[in-house]
Amino acid sequence: VLSLLYAVVLGYLFGSIPFGLLLTRSAGLGDIRDIGSGNIGATNVLRTGNRWIAFATLVLDASKAAVPVLLARGLWGEEAAMIAGIGAFLGHCFPVWLNFKGGKGVAVFIGSLLALSWPVGLIFCAVWLFIAVARKFSSLAALTAGATAPIFAYVVVNEYLAGAAAVMALLLFFQHRENIARLIAGTEPRIGSEKKKA
Ligand code: G3P
Repeated sequence: VLSLLYAVVLGYLFGSIPFGLLLTRSAGLGDIRDIGSGNIGATNVLRTGNRWIAFATLVLDASKAAVPVLLARGLWGEEAAMIAGIGAFLGHCFPVWLNFKGGKGVAVFIGSLLALSWPVGLIFCAVWLFIAVARKFSSLAALTAGATAPIFAYVVVNEYLAGAAAVMALLLFFQHRENIARLIAGTEPRIGSEKKKA
């Protein structure tokens, strides 16, 4: 039980590093929280117009989940690895350093899944890409990939990974509550469209 506590703390500490904020700030692009949706994730970093910084945010945010998952697996086993992934998710969404106002969890979901079971991670990316290309909403793509992740985790791996993915999916939906309201209202901006109001 103690190892699970260590795992969640380890995940949280990695997850709470706000790469989107740090990268945009150090690139002189200003405070990402004042741009577009105000989110610190790669989708919003893309709204600065800098694709490379957006891509780096995606990769680093995914890595900050994958690293503690792999560390926890090596140190304490598979159960701890899943808990570390949830810890990273919590750290990203609710970072103590930013008054608990963090990101929406898409990249950390990808990083956790890739480290826990790469086929399930790749399926998540494929679902995201399919919806992103078909409908041009980053949020809708993430919500669809998140909602289906527990099913794929169950089919490909087991009920434990399905449970971990379900916890992440619930957090993902909670963090996207404003996006969901905009999708329903028809005011969610499409990928590559104009900046949206914060
Ligand atoms: O990665 C988060 C994405 O699903 C939505 O981001 O900035 O459009 O609210 P944003």
